[in-house]
Amino acid sequence: MINSNSTRTALYGKKILLGICGSIAAYKSAYLCRLLVKAGAEVRVTMTRDSANFIGPVTLSTLSKNPVHIDLSEDNQWSDHVEWGLWADLMVIAPVTAHTVAKLANGYTDNMLTATYLSARCPVMAAPAMDLDMWNHPGTRRNIGTLKSDGVQILDVAEGELASGLHGPGRMLEPEDIVNKIESFFEKKWSLKKQIALVTAGPTVEPIDPVRYISNHSSGKMGVAIAEVLASRGAEVHLVHGPLTIDIGHPSIHCHPVQTAGEMLEKCLEIHPNCTLAIFAAAVSDYSVSIVSKEKIKKEGKPVQLNLTANPDVAATCGKRKNGKYHVGFALETQNEIKNARKKLTDKHFDLIVLNSLQDEGAGFNKDTNKVTFIEQNKMVELELKTKVEVAEDLVQYIEQKINR
Ligand code: PMT
Repeated sequence: MINSNSTRTALYGKKILLGICGSIAAYKSAYLCRLLVKAGAEVRVTMTRDSANFIGPVTLSTLSKNPVHIDLSEDNQWSDHVEWGLWADLMVIAPVTAHTVAKLANGYTDNMLTATYLSARCPVMAAPAMDLDMWNHPGTRRNIGTLKSDGVQILDVAEGELASGLHGPGRMLEPEDIVNKIESFFEKKWSLKKQIALVTAGPTVEPIDPVRYISNHSSGKMGVAIAEVLASRGAEVHLVHGPLTIDIGHPSIHCHPVQTAGEMLEKCLEIHPNCTLAIFAAAVSDYSVSIVSKEKIKKEGKPVQLNLTANPDVAATCGKRKNGKYHVGFALETQNEIKNARKKLTDKHFDLIVLNSLQDEGAGFNKDTNKVTFIEQNKMVELELKTKVEVAEDLVQYIEQKINR
């Protein structure tokens, strides 16, 4: 039975640049920062000097776990606005005041916040906070219009009691509402929202006796990286994995730990009928011991023979019941690489096989890098040496083009 994702995870791993201007609403920015970090985002804060009268930079640097920038030239870090602008997935200015709205609309760069805004290539969202007459003033309306036409997403202001004692529009949205808007923004970008993916990763272990086992050097890094990239693009991911010593970060991944090839097959057969996409990156042990000893086999100084039985092939078994699903296999080879990979592509009914060869420096087991070739029936794409996360991104991008046609 496959459960649907109930909690929102779109902020996990996202880089958010939080800009804070000088309004009483700035005290809420601390909570906003905390909510973003709690949701798994990496947050950097740039604030105006005026905002530091309302909320302390130390509070923001503690909550964001990053240094806070105010002035352009502080600590000779004048070019940080460029680096920060390129780093972010989204810039959120909350609160933005009438004064900063005017500066942004006219391209001023007199502090770190405005200079970063001008340098940022990422989308920008702004949550205004000001008194109702300032909000309604034609000058502000004009500047807000300019920012909108420049592509800035201006969040609504809330109505209610204002710091001046007046009632009306001008309050900054509550931090929870701003987080909801940010989550919706990222969810809209999910390219694999409707996909349910089965991913296998890591080794399997086949017991010999209660103490010993047969296994291989797979760390699961490749498969876990694929699962994380799929999840970050909105897919529902089921990761069936052997014993791992690495962390699985993305909170929405459904993990199904197994030990043996038999258990991996059983779990995959349970999940496979409901999935739309399957990626087999596990290094499944090809053999298991025919009769597992109940007791520890004693060392008697004589050769010991183990009878091995061929394990079921997880990918090939699922491949026989594909039913329109997109299947990706991996091939780890040491010789005749392309020929062997092509044979597996056909025999196991893969749509695509990812070849990695132990002949290539930096490729294969237990490393942070891999060098792979994507092989289809009529096409081959060779990639350079990359990190496993980059390989996973390239692979998911490649698959997306195939399944979203
Ligand atoms: O885990 P890492 O340390 O990051 O290393 C990554 C990796 C090298 C394990 C990975 O990139 C990889 O190549 N995985 C497949 C290794 C392998 O067992 O290849 P194979 O040629 O034996 O199998 C071909 C395909 O059939 C694979 O998709 C495999 O998952 C699948 N298979 C194999 C045997 C079996 N009994 N069941 C299977 O599903």
